[in-house]
Amino acid sequence: MTVRGPSRVERLPRVTGYESVRAAGRNFERYSSLHQGDEDVRAYRQLPLEADPPLHSALRAFLVPFFSKGSLAPYQHGIDADARELIAPLASGELEIVRGVGLPLVVRTIARLLDRPNDIEEWVSWGPSVWGDHDGRRDGAALLAFLQRAVDEGAAGTGGRLFNLLAHTPIAGEMLTRDQQIGVGSLLLAGGRDTVMNLIAGIAWMVAAHPAHVSALRGDLAMRTAFIEETLRLTTPLGLMERIDRGESGGDPEVSPHVGLDFASANHDATVFTCPAELRLDRPAATPHVAFGIGPHACVGAPLARMEAHAVLDALLAHAPNGLIVQEHQAHFRNVGGVQVPASFQRLVIAAR
Ligand code: HEM
Repeated sequence: MTVRGPSRVERLPRVTGYESVRAAGRNFERYSSLHQGDEDVRAYRQLPLEADPPLHSALRAFLVPFFSKGSLAPYQHGIDADARELIAPLASGELEIVRGVGLPLVVRTIARLLDRPNDIEEWVSWGPSVWGDHDGRRDGAALLAFLQRAVDEGAAGTGGRLFNLLAHTPIAGEMLTRDQQIGVGSLLLAGGRDTVMNLIAGIAWMVAAHPAHVSALRGDLAMRTAFIEETLRLTTPLGLMERIDRGESGGDPEVSPHVGLDFASANHDATVFTCPAELRLDRPAATPHVAFGIGPHACVGAPLARMEAHAVLDALLAHAPNGLIVQEHQAHFRNVGGVQVPASFQRLVIAAR
């Protein structure tokens, strides 16, 4: 397998620490998102992520209703049932959670969101990342071919609810271009995929690492919520995002320096989170984590990700009432004050304790 060196974003200077990251995330006049990332695999912007107002605000307003409580409520039953079905094999043996649970669960969930149930098999075939499973190489061709087809179907009114609306709804007074529709579809397919898969694997890892919490978690929804939020803080599945630093006086984004907004460093800031590498269920609500970002670009899909996380944690506790053991893992870890904390998982085999 090819081992990738640090990406361009990983090599940029960074905004770090809880207060600085929160301030920069909120200050989109200075920290612009008007750039295009993943230049090795795509030649279009992911939207609304890589836009500033007014396009950003208009596109975000278009997307937000898809993630309201009322819109997501009908998915709850299906997501819970999927999680129970995928985790059931744990009752009689070991289970690989990244491809065995995370991948099918997120793909089925995105199919519900985009109203495209017939694409599930194709999306699973790409593997854990939308940029493909090519022995370490990234490739955007399969995703682009899919998006072109979906946008064409949207124009014809057969693309499922979201692509149909993208093709036919004026945004900020204008119809979206083909590339802009592709950019929105790309973000929904990419943003809600390996992030959620890493959260799901992270939850299994944390259950295995904290056997003393298991019986309390089973009977207490508030504790399960705190456990998921702590897993989000500790793992921070999307740890670094790019911005253009236009300076105090708002310089030209074309020539201003790029920086990385380091959400992971904010979530592990020891001046805010006492013993930051520890999972604690009584962290003060006044200092929430920033795993879903902060400010105008904060994650639109957070309620859906939390729904999937609860479904998985409930199913794990139901099928493994005494907790879990990690049998095997391939993961990437971050060093948090000398302690290795998992950030992403390629493979995680678990068994009931
Ligand atoms: C554990 C799961 C997830 C994590 C950790 C995560 C994290 C994030 C973060 C940190 C941002 C802000 C990026 C920035 O400031 O530049 C973001 C934005 C976004 N996320 Fe998520 N995300 C998750 C799940 C999802 C899901 C399930 C969806 C939808 C299917 C989604 C859709 C989006 C979109 C559309 C944006 C852009 C919002 C904007 O630019 O206004 N995410 N996400």
